[in-house]
Amino acid sequence: MDLRGILGNRLGMLQGLKSQRRVHRSRGTVRRQVCVLGILLAAAILLRDATAMFGLSSFAAGMSLSEADLHSLERLLFLPPVAYATGAFGSRGGGGTLIFAAAVMIARAAMGPTDQAPQSLLQTAGVTMTGGLFVLWLASESRRADTAGGTVKQILMAQEREQQRIARELHDDTVQSLYVIAQGLDRVASNDDERMDAKTASELSKIRGTALQTVTGLRRLIQDLRPHVLSDMGFVPALEWMVDDHAKRYATAARLELRGRLPVLSQKAQLLLWRIAQEAMRNSGKYADASEILVTLDSAESTFRMVVADSGKGFDPRQVLRDSHRTGRMGILSMQERTALLGGSFEIHAEPGKGSVITVEIPLKPAD
Ligand SMILES: Nc1ncnc2c1ncn2[C@@H]1O[C@H](COP(=O)(O)OP(=O)(O)O)[C@@H](O)[C@H]1O
Ligand SMILES: [Mg+2]
Repeated sequence: MDLRGILGNRLGMLQGLKSQRRVHRSRGTVRRQVCVLGILLAAAILLRDATAMFGLSSFAAGMSLSEADLHSLERLLFLPPVAYATGAFGSRGGGGTLIFAAAVMIARAAMGPTDQAPQSLLQTAGVTMTGGLFVLWLASESRRADTAGGTVKQILMAQEREQQRIARELHDDTVQSLYVIAQGLDRVASNDDERMDAKTASELSKIRGTALQTVTGLRRLIQDLRPHVLSDMGFVPALEWMVDDHAKRYATAARLELRGRLPVLSQKAQLLLWRIAQEAMRNSGKYADASEILVTLDSAESTFRMVVADSGKGFDPRQVLRDSHRTGRMGILSMQERTALLGGSFEIHAEPGKGSVITVEIPLKPAD
């Protein structure tokens, strides 16, 4: 299947992504509204007789629940909004909702018939404690996720620093030394010294050629490690350079296509997107045996999308991701993590024999 075919197949998916984006944008507002509704509902339940509101009395009759059980059940109904507020707004949201609900319950218990008040207060305390445990559990879960995200970020940043260091050393020491060797050989070989026979001169010139070839290879490696082109030329020309270099290196028809006006991306976004494109293209070069590679960049009002598609062998991304920790193959994971650092979404559509398409979509912040 050629690249047009592969991309044609994905067009529907990209349209789908557009609507996902809209959903993503409005999710925050919807969450807030649902939460407020939940809290109001909880207040209504706690202040009024929830048995009447939800037909709980017929449920209780069916389940042969006593009046007291029914009241406990009624009070437990406020836990979902508390859990939701914690998940959506962190421990502060959960804690706030909990305190609010507890205050309402205490007020109701205090207003109720005198003989029921102590029992109601006990129930209030029990439910509040359960809610508190919920909040603590949810908060610790989200903290754990944050810490994991932070660790990945630190690893990626450390990797970036290490790559810069290796590139600097290669550039300042290794490449310079090789140049000195090549120049020395050049001087010796071009010297009209009669003592040197033709064979030795030709050997010296071959060694010089090898040294210069190694310098070219090292330059490429340095560029991969520390993308100077990015700061020197800017994001799009640097990507163009990468695509051209790839075409030469792997004798593949590689192209870059721009759609629409390109936004100004932050330094961080440029570097991370560059690294993602680099890994995606490197994978295509190493594994895909593709005749064509197409990199497309396009942006909508508040998002920027980069797609790297190849017409090669394809693979099973789920299997690769499942096995990544065992096999130590981290390229795809690192693309995912870099996208996450930009708050974006990452998708691979690949099947054996049907090419691979990698889509990264990032939200554009005002600073980007
Ligand atoms: N474009 C591609 N075409 C075919 N196979 C691919 C492609 N990209 C990735 N793969 C497969 O996925 C595996 C994992 O890739 P990756 O996570 O980048 O690790 P690594 O590059 O270190 O092997 C590769 O070994 C290869 O089998
Ligand atoms: Mg790889």
